[in-house]
Amino acid sequence: MTTTFTVEDTLDTLREAEGRYGSEAINQLEHALQAAEHALAYRADTEVVLAALLHDIGRLGAVARHYRGQPHEVAGAAFCAEHLGERAAFLVGRHVPAKRYLVVVDPAYFDGLSPASVRSLEKQGGPMTTDEVAEFEAHPWAREAAMLRRWDDAAKVPGAPTHDLAYFEPLLRQAWRSDS
Ligand SMILES: [Fe+2]
Repeated sequence: MTTTFTVEDTLDTLREAEGRYGSEAINQLEHALQAAEHALAYRADTEVVLAALLHDIGRLGAVARHYRGQPHEVAGAAFCAEHLGERAAFLVGRHVPAKRYLVVVDPAYFDGLSPASVRSLEKQGGPMTTDEVAEFEAHPWAREAAMLRRWDDAAKVPGAPTHDLAYFEPLLRQAWRSDS
């Protein structure tokens, strides 16, 4: 059995993601690289770094087309579950709920959101209820999911320096799940 996407497909999808990122000031490739840069600065392990790099892959190019009709974090989680691993899938799948979580537990967090991110919050379900917060926090990877969300929000700075995409190719090859 072969996997749905190869490392090359994934790099191509990111490379092609130089269109604008909604109303954000940077494009999706820069956003992905900046998110991964925060994970590297934190000295996160490879699976977490790659989850940061790929957290929005579900809204991009061939991957979005393959998972058409699903919310981008659900598509991204399915992509990561097949190609990277359960933890990357969890982190990518929770990066939208993590925003709904952080606006409840960290009052300063909401103030730091971009206008576009504030606008999408209601569509994403609004702030979590008390029960939802408890359920979110009960998961052993909740802390990493909240961190990835903060890296996502911080990854919208025009011109911020990052590694280039080629830096991540060996990390992807090493982590990729493939029978071939
Ligand atoms: Fe993002």
